Parts: sequence; C-alpha cells; structure tokens
Amino acid sequence: MEYYVHEWALMLLRWLHVITVIAWIGASFYFVWLDNSLEKPSDPDLLQKGVDGELWAVHGGGFYNPQKYRVAPKALPTNLHWFYWESYSTWLSGMALFVGLYLLNAKTYMIDPQIYAMSESTAILFTFAFLVAGLVVYEAICRFFGRNVWLSAVALGIMVTLASFAACHVFQGRAAFLIVGAMLATLMTANVFFWIIPGQRKVIASMRAGEKVNPIYGQRGKQRSVHNTYFTLPVLFAMLSNHYNMMYNHPMNWLVLVLMMTSGVLIRQFFLLKHKKKINWYFPLSGVVNMLGVFFWIAPKSPQAQAQAQDSAPPSTAEIQVVINSRCVGCHATHPTLMDAPAPKGVILETAKEIDKHANMIFIQVVQLKVMPLANLTHITDEERALIAKWYEGRKP
Ligand code: HEC
Repeated sequence: MEYYVHEWALMLLRWLHVITVIAWIGASFYFVWLDNSLEKPSDPDLLQKGVDGELWAVHGGGFYNPQKYRVAPKALPTNLHWFYWESYSTWLSGMALFVGLYLLNAKTYMIDPQIYAMSESTAILFTFAFLVAGLVVYEAICRFFGRNVWLSAVALGIMVTLASFAACHVFQGRAAFLIVGAMLATLMTANVFFWIIPGQRKVIASMRAGEKVNPIYGQRGKQRSVHNTYFTLPVLFAMLSNHYNMMYNHPMNWLVLVLMMTSGVLIRQFFLLKHKKKINWYFPLSGVVNMLGVFFWIAPKSPQAQAQAQDSAPPSTAEIQVVINSRCVGCHATHPTLMDAPAPKGVILETAKEIDKHANMIFIQVVQLKVMPLANLTHITDEERALIAKWYEGRKP
C-alpha cells in the first residue's frame, strides 16, 4: 500500500511537471518568436509613443497587435502581466520528481560500483555539487565572455561537455543524463530568478520614482533569455533520454549526450533565424546529419552474429534459469531481496514458465540493450549474455 501511494505521488508529480514545462517553454517559445518577428512600426503615433516593434497576428478567432517599447512605456499600465511562476514551478516540480525517483533510490538508480563506488549520501552530495558548480561556472562565463557571442557559445559548449563527461564517470548513465539536464534547467530558472525578474523590478522601481530607466537591465535580461532559448532543446532531450537506454548505455554515453544536445541547438538555430525570415538549411541539415552519425555509431550488433559466435546447440530454458536465478531474481521476484519494492514493472522471473513468457523482453534488455541486470549489480558475464542470446535465437521455430 505504501508503495502504491508512493507511485501515485510520483505519477501526479510527473504530470504536474510536464504541464508546467509546457506553460514555461510554450510562453518562452512564443516570446522568442514574437521578439524575432517584430517589425518597425510605420505609424508616426506609435513611433512617438516609443514603440520600436509591432506585429499583427490572428489566433483563435481574434486579431492581436502586440507592440514592444524601446526601453519602457512613458507611463506604467495599471495591469501588468509577469511571467515567472511557469519557470519556478517547473524547477520545483522537476526537483521534487528527481528527489522522489533518484535521490531516494540512489543505490538502485544512481550508483554503479563499476563506474564509481560511493555511498548513497555521497551520490546525493555529488548531485548538488553538480548543480552548484554549474551555476558558478556559468556565472563566470557570462561575466568574462558575455559580451562576445562566439566566445560565450564555445565556453558554454566546453562546460556542458565537461559536465557530461564528469557525470557519466560518476553516476549510472541514466542518472548522469538527468543530472546534466537538471544542471542546465537550474541555470535557466536561475536566469529568470536572479537576472530577468529582478532586472524588470528595477526598471519598474525607477519608473515609479520618475527616474530615467537604465537600459542595462533590459540588455542583461535579454542575454540570459537568449541563453535559455538555446538550452531549451538540449534540456528537453536530456530529460526524455532516460527512457531510451540505447542512449545512456553506450560506453561513451557522455559523447552521445553532447552530440544529441548539439543537434538540438542546431535545429533551434534554424527556427530562430526563420523567425527573422532568414532561411538557412545548413543548420537543421547538420543537426540531422549529426544525429544520423550517432544512429550508426551506437547501433547494436546484429543478434545473429552474437548467437552464432558459438556453434553448439542452443541452451534450454532450464539452463538459462540458472543464470536468471543468480543474476535477476534478486529483484525480479515476488519478494525481491535486492530492492525495497515489488518486482520492477511486474516482471517476475522465478519459474521457467515466467522466463519463457518474458523471453522477448529478456533478450532485448539483457542482450541488445544490456540494461539488465540494472547497473549490472549482480555481475552478469558476457558469456552469460551470449548464452541468453543463443537460447533466444534457438527458441524461434
Ligand atoms: C538490481 C535490481 C535488478 C536486477 C538484478 C535486474 N533487474 Fe530487471 N529491472 C529492474 C528495474 C528497477 C526495472 C524497471 C526499469 C525501469 O524503471 O526503467 C527492471 C525492468 C526489467 C524488465 C522490463 C523492462 C521494461 O521496460 O518493461 C525486464 C524484462 C527485466 N528487468 C529483465 C531483467 C533480467 C532478465 C535480469 C537479469 C539478467 C534483470 N532484469 C535483473 C531491476 C533489476
């Protein structure tokens, strides 16, 4: 019952997180599009009012005419909408989900003694160290290279590559990908919390005081929001990648992550230019070519080749059961001994009948993807994986 309530809580949290992500990224995509699509007004009245760009749009049966002021309007409107809760609630729900799924199950989902042996509390400490280090390094990059677009892009690329390399050499691949994603997502929310919103508050305070508005706040906010735009697709990829073990299980998973994120940036760049009516196919094409490279690079070896490696007769299910008993049943049992939860995904492998029923999944998880046994906590050998491959191939009529 306790476990059931726990699962409900995580389900609701994940639902909430996706909703807040849509609200935040949706608003962010809209404003980036709006900003890049604005046209200089021709109406002298608008120019007189200080309007620097405007646009006409039709949506949901109505006509809209947003106008952007050069620095700020002459007088503050009584009703001014702010956008920050979308970002904060995304970070808070994401963090809660990460704690519930990973930090509270660090032994099962984060630590792999073959990568780096550490205690659960060390794993938790390292996670927060990653987030804080990300903030510090990013802040330094913005201060030292902020004025130069190319330098800051290269510095951010190096930072993400190092973070990915480090995370993948400390944590299980799945947790490592999420930690890199969480690090970037934390920067994005920090940009809103520490720069964009306080800058806007200062602008409004000086308007209320009747002082001249310093344009530096708008410029700083803009720099941070441009960074956020480029982080968006990489972060979404990192967050979703943990459902696809072919991504995080490769021996050079850190590079897989960096390359996939790069594709995200290239594709985003195409859309940013397109908003400004500049079509440059080089960007999305190089993004796709890059992904194709990853596709072929990490493709699994053909199972036939693995099974045919030895030419004796295929083993029986009873022979396989010996392997399953020692390597899998610690978790995949009615009462698992290796974890504090019911059999994962309801997969129980205690009898030959159950093993036969799950043959296909066993083959995929153990031979093709090599994700089971989880983090290879039970030390399955390559010979045993080959044995399972051969058993699976031999079962086919
Ligand atoms: C340390 C615990 C542990 C061990 C040992 C383990 N598993 Fe799993 N297994 C899990 C967990 C946890 C999941 C759920 C995976 C997830 O949440 O992504 C799982 C999921 C699965 C699934 C379902 C996958 C799906 O997506 O539906 C199969 C099949 C499976 N394991 C087979 C095996 C086999 C075969 C072995 C032995 C070679 C094995 N497991 C060893 C913990 C374990």
